[in-house]
Amino acid sequence: MKVFVTGARGQLGADLCPLLARKKGLTLDCTDREDLDLCDTDAVRQRVLNSRPDVILHAAAYTDVDRAERESELCRRLNLDATACLAEAAEQIGASFLFLSSDYVFSGEGEEFYRTSAPKLPLSVYGLSKSLAEDAVLSLCSRAMIVRTSWLFGRHGRNFVYTLLSRAERQEEIPVVCDQIGSPTYTKDLAASLLGMIGTERYGVYHVTNEGVCSRAEFAAEILRLAGGSARILPVESSVFPTAARRPLNSRLSKDCLTENGFPRLPHWKDALARFLRETGAIGETNTEGGTPP
Ligand SMILES: NC(=O)c1ccc[n+]([C@@H]2O[C@H](COP(=O)([O-])OP(=O)(O)OC[C@H]3O[C@@H](n4cnc5c(N)ncnc54)[C@H](OP(=O)(O)O)[C@@H]3O)[C@@H](O)[C@H]2O)c1
Repeated sequence: MKVFVTGARGQLGADLCPLLARKKGLTLDCTDREDLDLCDTDAVRQRVLNSRPDVILHAAAYTDVDRAERESELCRRLNLDATACLAEAAEQIGASFLFLSSDYVFSGEGEEFYRTSAPKLPLSVYGLSKSLAEDAVLSLCSRAMIVRTSWLFGRHGRNFVYTLLSRAERQEEIPVVCDQIGSPTYTKDLAASLLGMIGTERYGVYHVTNEGVCSRAEFAAEILRLAGGSARILPVESSVFPTAARRPLNSRLSKDCLTENGFPRLPHWKDALARFLRETGAIGETNTEGGTPP
């Protein structure tokens, strides 16, 4: 099986590609911005037709949610037009297509878990681009999987965990929003899940995140608890931190679709976070309960 990956050097791609490379019987064609600019749809189409993969795993995206509010055209070109182009090319060569989407396709009202079939109502330019891309993928490609994920953290990227740890070095009290609820997700766990999904013919829309939900403030508190140190979290409402893009307050995603289709669910986010911190050296190898690293 040949797999064509976009966004190979992104936060997810950097964990995904080495994992796929270790899988027996799998050939890889990994791309990133340097060798294929996804805004150049002619080049994208040609590259896919030349490569002729069995699976396209599309992890690249315009991911700066706030900047997207003022760069809506670029966001749309990358997240919608390039995705549609890849989905069309996949259909042309009979490949399956796995598209990474987001909890930001939902408005985040209420406290219920969103099932995959729940109505979408994005609040931001980024969320809208992902939502329209999902629709395009499902209409253009007959072998499509949409994987909505949330709150990614991984070794190779800018993410909430790194930002918080760096702020904890400078600040005693760190304000963090307490009214956005979701599931932090370790890119390594997500990558392992994607590996189990590609090559199956169980097409459709999935939610794939680590288990459990928490507020951003609870996530932050757990990071500090595990990493040790004296900094404290000050829980605040989102209205205290106005951002260019509105974010859903409720990002609880139901993972029933995974179970219903025979795919395993991911470990709890607290377990994932502890592994991440150990693997990045932020806490000691044996320190799973927190405290100051040895
Ligand atoms: N991060 C999250 O919390 C989160 C949450 C929900 C869903 N997702 C989705 O999950 C997927 C992976 O996210 P991530 O955190 O790994 O994203 P990321 O770290 O921002 O990586 C995005 C990748 O896309 C590449 N890219 C950007 N513009 C490109 C272009 N014009 N041509 C080719 N490649 C281009 C980037 O290359 P450069 O490094 O060269 O810019 C980078 O490798 C994305 O689809 C994202 O929307 C992420």
